[in-house]
Amino acid sequence: SIVILDFGSQFTRLIARRFRELGVYSVILPGSASLERILQEKPQGVVLSGGPSSVYDENAPKPAQGVLDLDVPILGICYGMQYLAHTAGGEVKRAGKREYGKAELSKYSGTLFAGVQGEFIAWMSHSDSVITLPQGYDVVAETIDTPVTAIENNETRRYGVQFHPEVVHTPKGTQVLLNFLEVCGVARDWTAEHIVEELIADVRAKVGTGKVLLGISGGVDSSTLALLLAKAVGEQLTAVFIDHGLLRLGEREQVEQALRPLGVNLVVVDASNEFLGALDGVSDPEEKRKIIGREFIRAFEREAREYGPFEFLAQGTLYPDVIESAGGEGAANIKSHHNVGGLPEDLAFKLVEPFRTLFKDEVREIARLLGLPDHIRLRHPFPGPGLAIRIIGAITREKINILQRVDDIFISGLREYDLYNQTAQALAVLTPIQSVGVMGDERTYSYTVALRAVTSADFMTAEWAFLPYEFLATISNRIVNHVHEINRVVYDITSKPPATIEWE
Ligand code: XMP
Repeated sequence: SIVILDFGSQFTRLIARRFRELGVYSVILPGSASLERILQEKPQGVVLSGGPSSVYDENAPKPAQGVLDLDVPILGICYGMQYLAHTAGGEVKRAGKREYGKAELSKYSGTLFAGVQGEFIAWMSHSDSVITLPQGYDVVAETIDTPVTAIENNETRRYGVQFHPEVVHTPKGTQVLLNFLEVCGVARDWTAEHIVEELIADVRAKVGTGKVLLGISGGVDSSTLALLLAKAVGEQLTAVFIDHGLLRLGEREQVEQALRPLGVNLVVVDASNEFLGALDGVSDPEEKRKIIGREFIRAFEREAREYGPFEFLAQGTLYPDVIESAGGEGAANIKSHHNVGGLPEDLAFKLVEPFRTLFKDEVREIARLLGLPDHIRLRHPFPGPGLAIRIIGAITREKINILQRVDDIFISGLREYDLYNQTAQALAVLTPIQSVGVMGDERTYSYTVALRAVTSADFMTAEWAFLPYEFLATISNRIVNHVHEINRVVYDITSKPPATIEWE
């Protein structure tokens, strides 16, 4: 593997991403990780990431003693390069101002740039610069502002780049990373097939003959995990899907049809009476969320006792959850415990989290290999509280039923017009607004429904989707013709921020 030591750059995760794309397994560890911890990963190469510090800062982060002496290639990026140069006896100059943005390399050569041709645009984000080389190093790239933009020592296999090869704004950066991997001599066999085999072997080794409990949400992560665990431990797995009565039309059946035939021991629990009873008359969004969270735990607990005892609880934790901060390992534990925090002590499980090292699109790839149908594999996210937060105000069975039918027309329409995969999320909201309309010769006084579709990379920000007018016209007609409780359809044209994606 390649070990990436994180010194706090916002791009550290992208380095891991690029290596994965090149078929190489890599691990991000905190910059301060002990030598012992690093050796556990059997590193064939080490990357020192960028970071906001200057090597002259009093608390400048440093790799543990011995890391720089490891007999493996080391690549320093930005701060990482300055650190390498500084500790090897070079000189780093504190610059008053920051160089930020694109720069063109005026010269490049050497091992890191092997095979690169033509102009090389590099993304810079630094204030300090290396001005005097340490012994044994050569300058292998320059820009007008930064004469020492890349350095290498082929004897000790130490390399440094001042720019960020991992970001898209350095279009030829992948070649630089690939050249480093070649020097490391690391196998490029980290493919989805390989990952699946390894994950299955790991789960078997960890679980033995123990029983495993898994909660199914209907989303891609938990569904894929169910398929993986079924392959690994078969009947030792009990997957519990709690139907709170706030799902989309046909969703429960879709999950059953996707998982049961592939060998998942699936328990479907209809808990709609409990959930809807507890939600009766509640209109405050946060109150709705609290009640639903509490009822989920209750229902899950009940099933755990019914089908248990279970030694293990499986969770679909992904790599981005694990490395949310530079905290690395510590952060991961907080998150895991947090996820099961609502369960009582006597249901003490050991956690199984096979996806802890994976990114979302790797999970999607594994899902494909395991046979998860595309309508689940490529599904938009759907919130845990379901339609409860899409019915403004108090929830009734009748309102759920209206919204399910509207939502189904909208979502099916998006699929039919090939727009589903062009939006990140789409939803319908049942508002409490009633307004006057005319149907045949009759005056109507019915509800308004709002449609919302957004594009988004990470759901932290989102743009409203520019759906074609023709499509919107068709959907609006279908809704008012088929759902008689609705006489007005509006389209939400607000981005996030200031609006959120959901209305509650
Ligand atoms: P907002 O509405 O905050 O939503 O822009 C961002 C993303 O989070 C989802 N969401 C939730 N997911 N429980 C969930 O599991 C919730 O309470 C919840 N609220 C919002 C939302 O669907 C969107 O993808």
